[in-house]
Amino acid sequence: MDTLFVRNNLTYRIDLIYRAYPNEKLVWFYELLSSHLLIKDPELIGEIFVKNFDNFCDKIPESSHKNRILQNLTNMSGNKWKYMRTKLIPTFYPSKLKTMYASIDHCAQILSSHIREHARTYQPIDAKEIMIRFTMDVIGCCVFGLEFNALKDPDSEFRKIGKLFLDPSPENTFRRIISFLDTVGYFKKLFNFQDFSPKLEHFFFNLLRNSKEFPKTESMMKKDFIQFMLDIKNEELTDEDKDVIFTEEVIASNIFLFFVAGFMTTSSVLSFCLYELALNPEIQERIRNEIEHVRNSHNEVLNSDVLTKLVYMEMVISETLRKYPPIPLARRICTRSYQIPGTDMVFPLNTHVAAPVYSIHHDKRYYENPEKFDPERFTEENRARRIPYTYIPFGTGPRICIAVRFAKMEMKCCLAELLRKYKFTPYDKTDIPVVIYKARSLYSPEGPILLAVQEI
Ligand code: HEM
Repeated sequence: MDTLFVRNNLTYRIDLIYRAYPNEKLVWFYELLSSHLLIKDPELIGEIFVKNFDNFCDKIPESSHKNRILQNLTNMSGNKWKYMRTKLIPTFYPSKLKTMYASIDHCAQILSSHIREHARTYQPIDAKEIMIRFTMDVIGCCVFGLEFNALKDPDSEFRKIGKLFLDPSPENTFRRIISFLDTVGYFKKLFNFQDFSPKLEHFFFNLLRNSKEFPKTESMMKKDFIQFMLDIKNEELTDEDKDVIFTEEVIASNIFLFFVAGFMTTSSVLSFCLYELALNPEIQERIRNEIEHVRNSHNEVLNSDVLTKLVYMEMVISETLRKYPPIPLARRICTRSYQIPGTDMVFPLNTHVAAPVYSIHHDKRYYENPEKFDPERFTEENRARRIPYTYIPFGTGPRICIAVRFAKMEMKCCLAELLRKYKFTPYDKTDIPVVIYKARSLYSPEGPILLAVQEI
């Protein structure tokens, strides 16, 4: 009921359950009409998410997402998911990442000019809003080869569509309530109910149909994601073994998924990161020194290879992902009954299981003083000592986030550009501690993250 009436974020509700049973490895919890098994034990997470993936390869029951715009990778099951994942993985091959760097850097320069205006007029920045707009532009350039212009124009079509997805409007609240009550999908099927506003669906179908007419970016990849999927569709005409057909629906749904997954997660991590750096000036200074040192030893150039030398920055990003994992619960469904080794406990078919990512990341047994922002937890030695599956911000196993390397490169490129030019400090109206958005299952800031900014 708390989630339904937006009194408490799902993450905190799960965390209460997690803490109430400190010694249990598994705990049942209820989301009104359906029950889920919380997998608290890291070893068991490894068994389920990785070693016995074939018994737990799905995330959502197929019957619950007949929506036209949800026929995408993350909602697919079984062989269909495997086929599509294999087809889409090349989007983020290392060779592609190298070509995407120039586009990310281009967006980071626009972000930097935007921040300069704030610094020169002594106006605070809203780290949450500018990071949403920056990450939208990056997805536009890198994945779709399109100029989204979300940073330059706050009223851009893409920013508006992002708002439609994010905002707690009465329409969105109603849809959330129905979806919440109906996790198994009976009413949705019966009444052909859509989880999202039809405007979203129209937008992404039109984007696909009219993609050729949108202004292309200068540094566009040779082949953008939309063209890449259209090519797969053409190859399929001769492919006998296909499990999914790249129909218009499937392509538009994947465009929607990559757009949403691309900006919501990274923007939230980047804004939490700037917030923590503002509160911890010594950590901020140490990253800045590292950036200067690495640039100096590489002829003042940063590129995708040089970014990998920013070891301390990687530690800071890892710690941000630990403290603020954007996806606080990783879910699976038992697709083939499974017996826990050494016990007589059997998971029947269709058992919904969930790994409490946030709660594990905040468990004192794995992270001393977990509320402290401490990048030292991610030195090489400390990482080697970590108990397996106690750090899973990108999920784990074959269904791990498809864009880990891309997301890390994007975050590093952005931080490297900003921190060498600006100093961030708390503003007198900054919410400390930061307030978390209650109405969403994503772990993200509720209001603006206001920070003062100074040119260096
Ligand atoms: C900091 C940034 C990000 C975080 C923390 C993150 C986290 C995650 C997590 C936890 C999952 C589910 C994994 C599981 O169930 O085991 C996931 C899946 C996914 N992510 Fe990300 N993600 C990030 C950035 C991105 C970006 C930038 C994109 C695309 C451009 C993306 C695309 C996807 C897709 C398509 C899936 C579904 C994969 C599948 O089901 O096979 N993510 N992500």
